[in-house]
Amino acid sequence: MLVIGIESSAHTFGAGIVDDGKILASEKEMFKIGTTGMIPAEVAEFHVNNAADVISRALERAGIGYRDIEGIGYTRGPGLGPCLQVGCLSAKTLAKKLNVKIVPVNHGVGHIEVTRISAGLKDPIALYVSGGNSQILKISDKPFRHYRVLGETFDIGVGNMLDSFARELKLTPSWGSTVEKSALGGKYIEMPYSVKGMDFSFTGLLTKATSLIPEKKEDLCFSLQEAAFSMLAETAERAILLTNSQELCVCGGVAQNTRLKEMLGLMAKEHGVRFGFVEGALNADNGAMIAMVAERMLRNGFSVPVNECRTEQRYRVDRARVF
Ligand code: FE2
Repeated sequence: MLVIGIESSAHTFGAGIVDDGKILASEKEMFKIGTTGMIPAEVAEFHVNNAADVISRALERAGIGYRDIEGIGYTRGPGLGPCLQVGCLSAKTLAKKLNVKIVPVNHGVGHIEVTRISAGLKDPIALYVSGGNSQILKISDKPFRHYRVLGETFDIGVGNMLDSFARELKLTPSWGSTVEKSALGGKYIEMPYSVKGMDFSFTGLLTKATSLIPEKKEDLCFSLQEAAFSMLAETAERAILLTNSQELCVCGGVAQNTRLKEMLGLMAKEHGVRFGFVEGALNADNGAMIAMVAERMLRNGFSVPVNECRTEQRYRVDRARVF
């Protein structure tokens, strides 16, 4: 089934196309954050200006035309309201014009499922780490099939914390991947470590690291990463042991971080647990992950009338039915 997925929850407008679970195209344009972060109305305007072109490029890459599309998925949430709206309206316009079924998709389910399926995992503990989210999840069939949240951040997502610190250090570009590069060769400085049961928090860590500027940049970046990723690895390890899981995956934008994957890989190996992730761009926000989940939903007979399709800024992952 040829399905197009549209993602626009934050800085990226993405369009992806899948056919029987195979990704045929994943095109996107990303708003350049600069040193001021994201102003939702500005990012939404960026999406409006890029939507048609990104969708056309995805069709071209997949070697299909508009009339070949058999179903549409879009990100319902969570995300920035004005940004979500652009993707939702683009998807609804297409659904009306092409007279095909449409489904709203949870952004977090998209991240987890594209990783789980691409990595060939069945029932993993999923560590979902991005700008807006940091959660540890596992599928549960009660009261309906969904990703149950076993642990999560009390405050901000780990990606948001890394991006914020990049801005405090005036790194360019001001996001987590620059913190990762800057951490090379750094030495550890004592940092707050905040884990409570299965949950964790990052604002204390951010405040402490910021208060130490202008210590050496590489030491600060290294220490911030070591502390944050240790917290994530500890709670993921506890989740594996408590649920007797045999698989672990990491997904979301921060899953691109080499040091995080190294820590998780070592921990998984110690427990004889299979560790999976996807390479590069599929970790970042993209339309292909939305298309992949949408296709499974549509194949299972689930769709929503076009005029009932909405967005929801705080659409929690554990409220989304998984097919
Ligand atoms: Fe995301």
